[in-house]
Amino acid sequence: MTPPSSNNGVSLQDRLKKEAGISAVDFVESGMVLGLGTGSTTRFALEELGQRLKDGRLNNIVGICSSIQTEKRASDLGIPITTFDDKQELDLTIDGADEVDPQLNLIKGGGGALLREKVLAQSSKRNIMVVDESKLSPMLGTHFPVPVEVIPFAWMPVSNFIKSLGGEPVLRKKDNGETYTTDQANYILDSNFGPIPNLDELALKFGQKAGIVEFGLFLGTASEVIVATSNGIRYQRRDDS
Ligand code: A5P
Repeated sequence: MTPPSSNNGVSLQDRLKKEAGISAVDFVESGMVLGLGTGSTTRFALEELGQRLKDGRLNNIVGICSSIQTEKRASDLGIPITTFDDKQELDLTIDGADEVDPQLNLIKGGGGALLREKVLAQSSKRNIMVVDESKLSPMLGTHFPVPVEVIPFAWMPVSNFIKSLGGEPVLRKKDNGETYTTDQANYILDSNFGPIPNLDELALKFGQKAGIVEFGLFLGTASEVIVATSNGIRYQRRDDS
């Protein structure tokens, strides 16, 4: 039976993700160098981008991808891709998020691509995040653990370190029970802190711990967030927040 929230087998959340993803592509102009994020919301933006390149509404676009998964998807869709060896400054990055607070700080990394995503975010003039309304939160950590990417050698000491900060780290596993590894062959500790009032302090501590490669707190990187709600698209800029 079709669930009440769905329309033609498409869930409300997927419909909202699609609306957010498509809306972001309205900000893309021909000639841009793009950062291409990872996740189920960004996937819709990639499809729209591929379509607009195909029908000629956009041209001369090139993208740098935040994951191997996105590289494959972009290639399948005919989106030209490159690397940082070729281009170092991105005009615009489109990416998803797992949790967004009122100041547009983010938790990211649910899809495991946080390291490359942060590199893209820090290399991009504009970062447009695409989310459905379920991602909004009064305080980061309320709904989602902080993914912490760690070198395999150090996962136990880092795990103990996270516990000493009040977090509850869980080593990410795949559905088949094997340990999940990132595109860089690292592990992820999904670390539940509950609501985090002191984001800068926690980020500083993560940044100082050897063995942590990157962590999923994205503080001050998002310039804009497109939120798809059941009442339509809401657009929020950092300055407005
Ligand atoms: C990938 O590592 C993540 O940062 C994603 O951007 C994030 O998990 C959002 O994914 P969805 O759009 O699939 O919810």
